Amino acid sequence: MNNIYELDHPLIEHKLAILRDKNTGTKEFRELIGEIATLLCYEAMRDVKLKSCEIETPITKMKTHKFDENDYAFIPILRAGLGMLDGVKNVIPNAKIGHIGMYRDEETFEPVNYFFKVPKDIEKKTVFLLDPMLATGGSAIDAIDLLKEKGVKNIRFLCIISAPEGIKAVSEKHPDVPIYTAHIDKKLNENKYIVPGLGDAGDRIFGTK
Ligand code: PRP
Ligand code: URA
Repeated sequence: MNNIYELDHPLIEHKLAILRDKNTGTKEFRELIGEIATLLCYEAMRDVKLKSCEIETPITKMKTHKFDENDYAFIPILRAGLGMLDGVKNVIPNAKIGHIGMYRDEETFEPVNYFFKVPKDIEKKTVFLLDPMLATGGSAIDAIDLLKEKGVKNIRFLCIISAPEGIKAVSEKHPDVPIYTAHIDKKLNENKYIVPGLGDAGDRIFGTK
């Protein structure tokens, strides 16, 4: 499939091994989600267009390149996406931030949208949509639908763990949205949890169970 970028690096495998471990506590879990999000965002910025500029170092003037941080927005899908926010802010500190509230109905597994607030001029920005887990793909598809309804044209989806089922669903519905993932796992189980996965990301980030 085009447009799917899986981080393939020993550092990621090491961090994922600790993250997935059921004995890893809340503090370390949160830190690792942030660290992996930083690395995902770094990878998702690889083809960014830079603009020429001239600066002056303490030694001399030089021509170089920059991008405008205001052209970017981070949008976590609540709750679990919030866990990635500090990590991506390390990469683009001045990016604007929106929020999409979404939860999966425990019986139907269908996503339910309960909150939507995005920065002004969102349609002019490149949006990094954040959610640690891409399972059936329902939440990501609905969040991308909502952003496209607002006129957003350039969306990148960043997730820590993804299932093949979710990748297929998102890339069929939104082939223009690249997916950056730290790892593609084996499958979903009968409760639509990712196997081997890491359990419930929101509960592990917020310590709610
Ligand atoms: C989790 C996860 C995604 C969604 C993925 O959220 O953070 O948003 O499930 O599943 P899907 O691909 O099948 O839609 P959850 O509904 O548990 O809400 P939470 O973030 O509030 O814990
Ligand atoms: N949401 C999670 O938090 N974990 C999964 O494995 C699937 C959906």
